[in-house]
Amino acid sequence: MRVAVMGTGLLGGPIAERFKATGHQVVVYNRTRARAEPLRELGIQVALQPKEAVRAAECIVLVLADAAAIRSVLSADPVRKELAGRTVIQMGTIGPSESQTLKEEVCAIGGDYLEAPVLGSIAEAKAGTLQVMVGGSQEQFVRWADLFRSLSREPRLIGPVGKAAALKLALNQLIAAQIAAFALSLGFVQRQGIDVETFMAILRESALFAPTYDKKLPRLLHREYANPNFSTRHLLKDVELFLGEAKGCRLNTGNLDGIRSLLQKTVGLGLAEADYSAVYEAVNPAQGNGA
Ligand SMILES: NC(=O)c1ccc[n+]([C@@H]2O[C@H](COP(=O)([O-])OP(=O)(O)OC[C@H]3O[C@@H](n4cnc5c(N)ncnc54)[C@H](OP(=O)(O)O)[C@@H]3O)[C@@H](O)[C@H]2O)c1
Repeated sequence: MRVAVMGTGLLGGPIAERFKATGHQVVVYNRTRARAEPLRELGIQVALQPKEAVRAAECIVLVLADAAAIRSVLSADPVRKELAGRTVIQMGTIGPSESQTLKEEVCAIGGDYLEAPVLGSIAEAKAGTLQVMVGGSQEQFVRWADLFRSLSREPRLIGPVGKAAALKLALNQLIAAQIAAFALSLGFVQRQGIDVETFMAILRESALFAPTYDKKLPRLLHREYANPNFSTRHLLKDVELFLGEAKGCRLNTGNLDGIRSLLQKTVGLGLAEADYSAVYEAVNPAQGNGA
């Protein structure tokens, strides 16, 4: 298939790579061109303008930061015109209502739209083991199955547009809750002078354990958050999206309000682009960082 990947950030770059590796014809566009250039060496075409990428493809895959970024890339008139007769597949994490609005806008100009947010990160994108959640019709799911199978062993059709976006928020709420809870217990263990390995050994043998704890432990112990897979900025975005959507669901989100303020504090410490496990700096500040 001829695919245009819009956004070659942490996730979009590896997704474009994977499409290419699985035999698709790939063109990419990224606002900051330097970030897309390494893909050229893999035989991927780098477009200078969004319209050039859209024109070269039958399907436009969006891996942009948020709804505002999508708007800024797709809303220029020359790009909008090119969307007629083409399909937009939205893969970033945006809110269900944002996704539904986008669908209306794309359909109004004669394009087709579905959403396919993913769980997993850089390694999973490169290996084709992302969890792809599709929001759209059965017909669209079948039409683009090849593309989804490039990224995922078992893509799933969740429901109409908005449902996959909502499910993705439910999962990312868990990412936020787990890292905040782990950071607090680890900080407590350390401040109580308890051996961390003993804490981890008991945790690993228990039903409380989640593999992400072992993945993030070295970062927390060394306070090392460079080379992120997923940034604090985007986790905060997702928490805010969840809180916005949950308002209408009569759910008590008090715990998540607390996590949002921890993530805001982390961003205030200059760690917006760092790995989201940097929330540890807000939970258990190093001496002198004043968080
Ligand atoms: N990283 C992950 O593991 C992961 C996993 C699942 C879902 N996601 C979601 O996937 C999306 C992308 O994530 P990411 O980690 O790849 O983020 P990222 O590294 O921050 O990349 C964001 C992308 O959006 C572009 N962008 C941001 N603001 C823009 C604007 N105003 N106009 C045009 N382009 C703009 C960036 O372009 P520049 O390079 O020019 O800034 C870049 O291409 C997010 O919604 C994220 O929540 C990420």
